[in-house]
Amino acid sequence: MTDRVLLITGASRGLGAATARRAAAAGYRLALVSRNAESLAPLVEELGADKALALAADVADWDQISGAVAATEERFGRLDAAFANAGQMLPVSFFGKGGTDPRQWREMVLTNVYGTAITARAALPALAKTEGHLVLTGSVAGRYIRPANLYSATKWAVTGLAGSIRAEAVGTGVRVTLVQPGIVETELITEEMRRKPKLDPDDIARAVCYALEQPKTVDVNEIVVRPTGQDPER
Ligand SMILES: NC(=O)c1ccc[n+]([C@@H]2O[C@H](COP(=O)([O-])OP(=O)(O)OC[C@H]3O[C@@H](n4cnc5c(N)ncnc54)[C@H](OP(=O)(O)O)[C@@H]3O)[C@@H](O)[C@H]2O)c1
Repeated sequence: MTDRVLLITGASRGLGAATARRAAAAGYRLALVSRNAESLAPLVEELGADKALALAADVADWDQISGAVAATEERFGRLDAAFANAGQMLPVSFFGKGGTDPRQWREMVLTNVYGTAITARAALPALAKTEGHLVLTGSVAGRYIRPANLYSATKWAVTGLAGSIRAEAVGTGVRVTLVQPGIVETELITEEMRRKPKLDPDDIARAVCYALEQPKTVDVNEIVVRPTGQDPER
């Protein structure tokens, strides 16, 4: 089937851009979302303006993300899958021993938790029409406790969200997949993480496409992917 439509948030770089490339090669038409449409322009040019649509939206803003879903249906006539992937990571210390100013934490929490939740809320009515597929980017950080790590707590929330949405989706034909990457070489990671074993963004794109390509009767619930040699609890 070559007319399927996939919306990706956080599509301008990293995991989102790699998934857009793989999905385009598999025949999807793509709605690419990030806060800045200019940062999406090179990818639209690469994939072809007939196949890819750039949409500027902050996932933490209901009007913007629901508008992006509406614009996708208007342009392509349907939505078959949504990849709620946009995310941010900031260093935090709860004792104030370094880390960022607490005023900065709000944007990360809003993006990673509220943004993921309302991306799902915006996309699911459209996905229900196609018996579609929701994929969420969690993290290995959403499975283990880490010291001084609010990012990890936001990803625990995404783990919970995926389960809660899947429970509500029973009977709708909608499938829900939580992808939990270990360290991936993108702009998001710290210098310390950069010195450790890392995945390539395309490694996660392949995992997302594996879930998307399953028959409608197969709901891949969770995929955990670490680079070989990563500490199992980090
Ligand atoms: N890299 C890793 O090691 C790793 C591991 C596990 C999980 N993850 C998760 O993977 C996802 C993608 O991360 P990445 O590594 O690919 O990071 P990245 O290279 O920094 O890309 C982040 C993407 O999210 C977009 N974005 C950020 N805030 C946004 C917002 N409020 N609204 C809309 N778009 C927003 C960015 O575009 P704009 O700035 O233009 O908006 C960009 O396209 C995140 O959820 C992250 O937590 C990453």
